Amino acid sequence: MEKYYEKDNQVIYNCDNLELLKSLDNECIDLIYCDILYNTGKVFDDYNDNLGTPKDAVEWYRPRLIEMKRVLKNNGSIFLHCNWRLDSYIRILMDEIFGSSCFRNRIYRKHSKERGFYLNFDSQVDIILYYVKDKNNFTFNEFKMDNKIITPLFENGYIKERSNIIILGNNKIDFKSLNKHYLVSESKLQELYKNNELIFIDNLPYRKTNVMPIGNLWAEDDMLDNYNRNKIADTYDTPKPEAILERIIKICSNEGNTVADFFLGGGTTAVVSKKLKRKGIYCDINKKACDVTIDKLKNID
Ligand SMILES: C[S@@+](CC[C@H](N)C(=O)[O-])C[C@H]1O[C@@H](n2cnc3c(N)ncnc32)[C@H](O)[C@@H]1O
Repeated sequence: MEKYYEKDNQVIYNCDNLELLKSLDNECIDLIYCDILYNTGKVFDDYNDNLGTPKDAVEWYRPRLIEMKRVLKNNGSIFLHCNWRLDSYIRILMDEIFGSSCFRNRIYRKHSKERGFYLNFDSQVDIILYYVKDKNNFTFNEFKMDNKIITPLFENGYIKERSNIIILGNNKIDFKSLNKHYLVSESKLQELYKNNELIFIDNLPYRKTNVMPIGNLWAEDDMLDNYNRNKIADTYDTPKPEAILERIIKICSNEGNTVADFFLGGGTTAVVSKKLKRKGIYCDINKKACDVTIDKLKNID
């Protein structure tokens, strides 16, 4: 496959992503983020967002997602950014391809403040589906804080199919009799105990930690779209804020890892990956997207 651009470990291809994916080696990518076509039916200045019915869209995505799984390393992660139009269809497709146990989360990204809609609730979030290739082995670099907080490691309701009596040092916890279940694996509980990270209140385990809790509602100001919908795009339509990519790339990859985006658009993934010293493989069918991205990459040391 002919490269359109290659410099500083950042490679861009200008072609249909299926073609590129088929040409890539097995297990060569650590992290995939794709802001896929949402199937809005809209024609933007820079691309046509129309794949037909949701079923047509699923059949269009299927071979691409099968290839994405193949090229992902065994400890790799994949994030698919979509919205309410396709998220449920893609979720079922991803469950089929990656396995439902490899689903990690559905992230709600607030894209705009209230816009005032007629006879409906304003749709203010889009969805990022997060899967891993191996549920027992994946990169997740937690952010650390200066202070410590105490968080419960249990929830109401016991689970019949698991061992409900856990011994942690001198503490014997009978989750069933307390009608609770624990939120991490038994081995993780043991590890936290060994690391002195557990405290017990009313014979239930809490984690004392400086790990920053990050929920799946990403609604901070820097997560909001920062382009003006009333104007023509500065460089390329529908850019995502860098803050989204920064969070995903920092948490789910390490320096020197390879990040890929097969729906590159204006190149947000490439810009953030390069700033964070990751290698990159990118693709867009539209030459303008590749050119806009190259211009941005040139300005990063
Ligand atoms: C939603 S935009 C991505 C925007 C990007 N996240 C950003 O921050 O600028 C989707 C992109 O996918 C590209 N695309 C659509 N179909 C494609 C295909 N089959 N192969 C490669 N790129 C494709 C479009 O040209 C468009 O640039």
